[in-house]
Amino acid sequence: MGLNSKDLLSIHDLSVGEVATILDVARKLKRKQKNGEPHEYCKGKTLAMIFSKASTRTRVSFETGFHQLGGHPIYLSDSASQVGRGEPVRDTARVLSRFVDGIMIRTFSHDEVKELAQYATIPVINGLTDLLHPCQALTDIFTIMEHQKVLKGRKLVYVGDGNNMAHSLMFACAKVGMHMVCASPKGYQPDPEILRLAQEDGAMTGAKITVEENLLEAAKGADVLYTDVWASMGQEEEFAERKKVLGSYQINKELLAVARPEAIVLHCLPAHRGEEITEDVMEGPQSVIFDQAENRLHVQKAIMALLMSEENL
Ligand code: CP
Ligand code: NVA
Repeated sequence: MGLNSKDLLSIHDLSVGEVATILDVARKLKRKQKNGEPHEYCKGKTLAMIFSKASTRTRVSFETGFHQLGGHPIYLSDSASQVGRGEPVRDTARVLSRFVDGIMIRTFSHDEVKELAQYATIPVINGLTDLLHPCQALTDIFTIMEHQKVLKGRKLVYVGDGNNMAHSLMFACAKVGMHMVCASPKGYQPDPEILRLAQEDGAMTGAKITVEENLLEAAKGADVLYTDVWASMGQEEEFAERKKVLGSYQINKELLAVARPEAIVLHCLPAHRGEEITEDVMEGPQSVIFDQAENRLHVQKAIMALLMSEENL
């Protein structure tokens, strides 16, 4: 069992079956880890992790996860490597391919990650770009599955900026047959091309992927409420402007009241309490945000094992 593609750059590139495989392997690896059973599927392998943006969860979950798989992770920051001094990405790709067995990268430009994957002879995993955050969205689906058992036909309502997180969630929901409404104001709605591709993916599973400006309308009957920050990494200077337009796009008690009573609340973190989510909802009984954070570890271990291990999982 593995994945057809060499890399994991976008959930759109995965088949419906491959998404199911990742979720299944993640469930098995989570159980093994909880039971203390060995699962060193990447023993003797090395992973280079390139970070051109800040991270807590992605770095620690990839690093810990690869270690638990028996491998050796190497952290490369912009400031401490030649990446930040402008070495061409196609050179980095070819050099790292001679040393290590896989690359995880978090950076700004999605095209840069595509170029890295094109020139690397080893798997490349997207740990977030300005366009997409696939490892997070796969984790989110895994978390929904744990809490709500069935995915098909459920409704996820994403609240706020139509950003990298919204884009990857649209692809993820489409692949597993979940409906998604992206509730965003004009000017901050998702990329129309990503929306079109996600709708095409959704046509194969029965998932409806839509955009809606009216938040209360969108949230009616939601099984999952999800939000992310109003200003992403690299957009800090736009915060005041974004706050004016996105200010009412918040998960709060009033919004929760129009969702289904058993709805769960997700946030990829880091969260800005009092902005896109209120303190009471974040700390309330419907929030499974910290289960979600933990699951980054299990889902990314599945991705790394599927891309990098020769063993049958
Ligand atoms: N959710 C997420 O990717 O968190 P970090 O920025 O801390 O990695
Ligand atoms: N949209 C956020 C996600 C952080 C995990 C960002 O890109 O900063």
